[in-house]
Amino acid sequence: MIRLAIFASGSGSNAEKIMETFQSDPQISVEAVLSNKSDAFVLERAKIFGVTTIVFNRDEFKDKAFLNKLEEHNVDYLILAGFLWKVPDFLIQAFPDRILNIHPSLLPKHGGKGMYGSRVHQAVLDSGDNESGITIHLVNEQYDEGRVLFQAKCEVEKTDSVETLAQKIHALEHKHFPRVIKEFVLS
Ligand code: GRF
Repeated sequence: MIRLAIFASGSGSNAEKIMETFQSDPQISVEAVLSNKSDAFVLERAKIFGVTTIVFNRDEFKDKAFLNKLEEHNVDYLILAGFLWKVPDFLIQAFPDRILNIHPSLLPKHGGKGMYGSRVHQAVLDSGDNESGITIHLVNEQYDEGRVLFQAKCEVEKTDSVETLAQKIHALEHKHFPRVIKEFVLS
Protein backbone atom coordinates (compact mmCIF):
# COMPACT_ATOMS: atom_id res chain seq x y z
CA MET A 1 0.00 0.00 0.00
CA ILE A 2 1.26 3.47 -0.89
CA ARG A 3 0.45 5.87 1.90
CA LEU A 4 -0.29 9.55 1.36
CA ALA A 5 -0.36 12.43 3.81
CA ILE A 6 -2.29 15.49 2.70
CA PHE A 7 -1.26 18.96 3.87
CA ALA A 8 -3.88 21.68 3.63
CA SER A 9 -4.46 25.06 5.26
CA GLY A 10 -8.03 25.81 4.31
CA SER A 11 -11.26 24.48 2.91
CA GLY A 12 -9.85 21.26 1.55
CA SER A 13 -12.08 20.57 -1.43
CA ASN A 14 -9.09 19.05 -3.21
CA ALA A 15 -8.25 17.00 -0.14
CA GLU A 16 -11.82 15.71 -0.12
CA LYS A 17 -11.61 14.61 -3.77
CA ILE A 18 -8.36 12.80 -3.01
CA MET A 19 -9.82 11.05 0.05
CA GLU A 20 -12.93 10.12 -1.93
CA THR A 21 -10.87 8.74 -4.82
CA PHE A 22 -8.65 6.54 -2.67
CA GLN A 23 -11.04 5.54 0.11
CA SER A 24 -11.38 2.00 -1.21
CA ASP A 25 -8.35 1.86 -3.48
CA PRO A 26 -6.37 -1.36 -3.08
CA GLN A 27 -3.01 0.32 -3.75
CA ILE A 28 -3.17 3.85 -2.34
CA SER A 29 -4.48 5.19 0.97
CA VAL A 30 -4.71 8.56 2.65
CA GLU A 31 -3.17 8.04 6.08
CA ALA A 32 -3.45 11.52 7.53
CA VAL A 33 -4.52 15.09 6.89
CA LEU A 34 -2.21 17.67 8.39
CA SER A 35 -2.95 21.34 8.84
CA ASN A 36 -1.29 24.40 10.28
CA LYS A 37 -4.75 25.79 11.13
CA SER A 38 -6.78 24.22 13.91
CA ASP A 39 -10.03 25.61 12.45
CA ALA A 40 -9.39 24.65 8.84
CA PHE A 41 -12.48 23.07 7.29
CA VAL A 42 -10.30 20.37 5.75
CA LEU A 43 -10.11 18.79 9.23
CA GLU A 44 -13.89 18.34 9.27
CA ARG A 45 -13.76 16.75 5.84
CA ALA A 46 -11.04 14.35 7.00
CA LYS A 47 -13.11 13.27 10.01
CA ILE A 48 -16.00 12.34 7.74
CA PHE A 49 -13.65 9.98 5.89
CA GLY A 50 -12.25 8.63 9.16
CA VAL A 51 -8.80 9.93 8.29
CA THR A 52 -6.43 10.88 11.11
CA THR A 53 -5.97 14.64 11.54
CA ILE A 54 -2.84 16.33 12.82
CA VAL A 55 -2.57 20.05 13.61
CA PHE A 56 0.83 21.63 14.07
CA ASN A 57 2.32 25.05 14.71
CA ARG A 58 5.27 26.75 13.07
CA ASP A 59 7.83 25.63 15.65
CA GLU A 60 6.74 22.01 15.34
CA PHE A 61 6.88 22.22 11.56
CA LYS A 62 10.43 23.54 11.56
CA ASP A 63 11.69 20.88 13.96
CA LYS A 64 13.15 17.66 12.58
CA ALA A 65 11.05 15.77 15.13
CA PHE A 66 8.17 16.53 12.77
CA LEU A 67 9.38 13.60 10.70
CA ASN A 68 8.37 11.27 13.54
CA LYS A 69 4.71 12.15 12.98
CA LEU A 70 5.01 11.05 9.36
CA GLU A 71 7.04 7.95 10.21
CA GLU A 72 4.38 6.87 12.72
CA HIS A 73 2.00 6.65 9.79
CA ASN A 74 4.55 5.14 7.37
CA VAL A 75 3.89 7.94 4.93
CA ASP A 76 5.37 7.55 1.44
CA TYR A 77 4.22 10.75 -0.30
CA LEU A 78 3.21 14.23 0.84
CA ILE A 79 0.40 15.89 -1.09
CA LEU A 80 0.13 19.66 -0.71
CA ALA A 81 -3.44 20.70 -1.48
CA GLY A 82 -3.85 24.35 -0.63
CA PHE A 83 -1.04 24.34 1.92
CA LEU A 84 0.37 27.80 2.50
CA TRP A 85 3.62 27.33 4.39
CA LYS A 86 6.99 26.76 2.79
CA VAL A 87 8.12 23.18 3.34
CA PRO A 88 11.38 23.08 5.34
CA ASP A 89 14.43 21.70 3.56
CA PHE A 90 14.81 18.72 5.90
CA LEU A 91 11.34 17.55 4.91
CA ILE A 92 12.07 17.97 1.20
CA GLN A 93 15.26 15.98 1.66
CA ALA A 94 13.41 13.25 3.57
CA PHE A 95 10.90 12.95 0.69
CA PRO A 96 12.93 13.52 -2.48
CA ASP A 97 10.58 13.70 -5.49
CA ARG A 98 7.84 12.53 -3.15
CA ILE A 99 6.10 15.83 -2.48
CA LEU A 100 3.44 17.01 -4.92
CA ASN A 101 1.84 20.44 -4.95
CA ILE A 102 -1.03 21.94 -6.88
CA HIS A 103 -0.87 25.56 -7.97
CA PRO A 104 -3.86 27.43 -9.43
CA SER A 105 -2.09 28.96 -12.44
CA LEU A 106 0.01 27.93 -15.40
CA LEU A 107 3.45 28.07 -13.77
CA PRO A 108 5.90 29.72 -14.20
CA LYS A 109 3.25 32.43 -14.56
CA HIS A 110 1.81 33.80 -11.34
CA GLY A 111 3.83 31.68 -8.93
CA GLY A 112 6.25 32.38 -6.13
CA LYS A 113 6.08 33.60 -2.57
CA GLY A 114 2.75 35.15 -1.58
CA MET A 115 0.99 33.93 -4.70
CA TYR A 116 -1.89 31.78 -3.54
CA GLY A 117 -5.65 31.57 -3.75
CA SER A 118 -7.50 34.65 -4.96
CA ARG A 119 -4.23 36.61 -5.30
CA VAL A 120 -3.29 34.33 -8.17
CA HIS A 121 -6.62 34.78 -9.92
CA GLN A 122 -6.48 38.55 -9.42
CA ALA A 123 -3.00 38.62 -10.96
CA VAL A 124 -4.25 36.64 -13.97
CA LEU A 125 -7.13 39.08 -14.46
CA ASP A 126 -4.85 42.11 -13.99
CA SER A 127 -2.38 40.82 -16.56
CA GLY A 128 -5.09 40.41 -19.21
CA ASP A 129 -4.15 36.76 -19.87
CA ASN A 130 -6.73 35.00 -21.99
CA GLU A 131 -6.01 31.64 -20.41
CA SER A 132 -5.19 30.26 -16.99
CA GLY A 133 -5.09 26.79 -15.54
CA ILE A 134 -3.52 24.48 -13.01
CA THR A 135 -0.05 23.10 -12.45
CA ILE A 136 0.73 19.93 -10.53
CA HIS A 137 4.42 19.78 -9.73
CA LEU A 138 7.06 18.26 -7.52
CA VAL A 139 8.28 20.38 -4.64
CA ASN A 140 11.91 21.34 -4.32
CA GLU A 141 13.71 23.97 -2.26
CA GLN A 142 12.44 26.86 -4.45
CA TYR A 143 8.79 27.95 -4.31
CA ASP A 144 6.79 26.66 -7.28
CA GLU A 145 9.86 25.64 -9.28
CA GLY A 146 9.88 21.83 -9.02
CA ARG A 147 9.39 19.59 -12.04
CA VAL A 148 5.99 20.02 -13.64
CA LEU A 149 4.00 16.79 -13.84
CA PHE A 150 0.82 18.10 -15.42
CA GLN A 151 -0.92 21.27 -16.56
CA ALA A 152 -4.46 21.88 -17.75
CA LYS A 153 -5.84 25.12 -19.17
CA CYS A 154 -9.07 27.06 -19.08
CA GLU A 155 -10.20 30.15 -20.92
CA VAL A 156 -10.25 33.49 -19.14
CA GLU A 157 -13.19 35.51 -20.42
CA LYS A 158 -13.55 39.27 -20.24
CA THR A 159 -16.51 38.79 -17.93
CA ASP A 160 -14.60 36.60 -15.46
CA SER A 161 -14.15 37.72 -11.86
CA VAL A 162 -11.87 36.25 -9.22
CA GLU A 163 -14.81 34.09 -8.12
CA THR A 164 -15.74 32.71 -11.54
CA LEU A 165 -12.12 32.06 -12.40
CA ALA A 166 -11.62 30.29 -9.06
CA GLN A 167 -14.60 28.06 -9.89
CA LYS A 168 -13.12 27.08 -13.24
CA ILE A 169 -9.75 26.36 -11.64
CA HIS A 170 -11.28 24.27 -8.85
CA ALA A 171 -13.17 22.21 -11.42
CA LEU A 172 -9.90 21.45 -13.21
CA GLU A 173 -8.15 20.63 -9.95
CA HIS A 174 -10.86 18.24 -8.79
CA LYS A 175 -10.92 16.53 -12.17
CA HIS A 176 -7.17 15.99 -12.51
CA PHE A 177 -5.35 16.04 -9.16
CA PRO A 178 -6.37 12.58 -7.87
CA ARG A 179 -5.62 10.98 -11.25
CA VAL A 180 -2.21 12.63 -11.57
CA ILE A 181 -1.32 11.58 -8.01
CA LYS A 182 -2.30 8.01 -8.81
CA GLU A 183 -0.34 7.88 -12.03
CA PHE A 184 2.73 9.40 -10.42
CA VAL A 185 2.90 7.27 -7.28
CA LEU A 186 2.25 4.07 -9.20
CA SER A 187 4.77 4.84 -11.96
C1 GRF B 1 -6.53 25.44 -4.73
O1 GRF B 1 -6.95 26.33 -5.73
C2 GRF B 1 -5.07 25.15 -4.86
O2 GRF B 1 -4.59 25.19 -6.15
C3 GRF B 1 -4.46 26.26 -4.07
O3 GRF B 1 -5.32 26.46 -3.00
C4 GRF B 1 -6.63 26.08 -3.36
C5 GRF B 1 -7.12 25.13 -2.32
O4 GRF B 1 -8.49 24.87 -2.45
N1 GRF B 1 -3.10 26.00 -3.79
P1 GRF B 1 -9.19 23.79 -1.54
O5 GRF B 1 -8.83 24.11 -0.10
O6 GRF B 1 -8.68 22.44 -1.95
O7 GRF B 1 -10.65 23.94 -1.79
